[in-house]
Amino acid sequence: QRLYALIPAAGVGSRSGAQGPKQYQRVAGRRVIDHTVAAFLAVPAIAGVGVVVAPGDTQYHAADERIRVWHVGGETRAHSVFNGLLALSGAGARAQDWVLVHDAARCLIRPADIERLIDACRDEPVGGLLALPLPDTLKQATGQQAPPRVQATVERGDKWLAQTPQMFRWQVLYQALAARQASGFQGVTDESSAVEALGERPLLVVGSSRNFKVTYPEDFAMAQALLMHADA
Ligand code: C5P
Repeated sequence: QRLYALIPAAGVGSRSGAQGPKQYQRVAGRRVIDHTVAAFLAVPAIAGVGVVVAPGDTQYHAADERIRVWHVGGETRAHSVFNGLLALSGAGARAQDWVLVHDAARCLIRPADIERLIDACRDEPVGGLLALPLPDTLKQATGQQAPPRVQATVERGDKWLAQTPQMFRWQVLYQALAARQASGFQGVTDESSAVEALGERPLLVVGSSRNFKVTYPEDFAMAQALLMHADA
């Protein structure tokens, strides 16, 4: 089975505080999305990289023959991914091929992290994702009251923070998202959540804390610092 990367990059970046979507902001001499795509191109096992941008977005152009750009971004991230899956299929992806969905905004992903996920999931029937065991103590807050107060401390031994890439067989992910299309993909915050709703149990593969999603203004300074130090 072939492996494809699918990168949703159709967000408007309303939380980043700067002008324009975060995937097009520059960090360490290159745009966020260019760092992200380069990491996948550096993995020999990946046959192609599909980038989903918003309709009418003229800011991203494929700079390598293994990249395809599709202007099919949707209202939500899940919708963008669903449209990207259809485009991948149009470009030749088969039911049992693997799709690694990765946020454009996680530009600190390293080829070695991607390869660890691939090695762990290749013999899985359904797939899995990079994630991190929760490092901090987890608090349950009381209802909606302000200011919030601690209701309880939650046992964290079995809690993980989901990252991307999330690697699933094309057909499994297509079925999972198609089942949520009628409800506007409500509650689908990542690929795994849709796959879990089919009754499947994706594999959790330990990721890295540097693979965070640049979202807020201070995240860009952190990303810059890490990208300038290759061995960080
Ligand atoms: O907004 P959020 O941080 O959840 O976005 C995660 C990723 O999904 C980003 O790379 C963003 O560009 C992408 N996205 C998308 N289509 C949307 C919303 C977000 O492709 N409608």
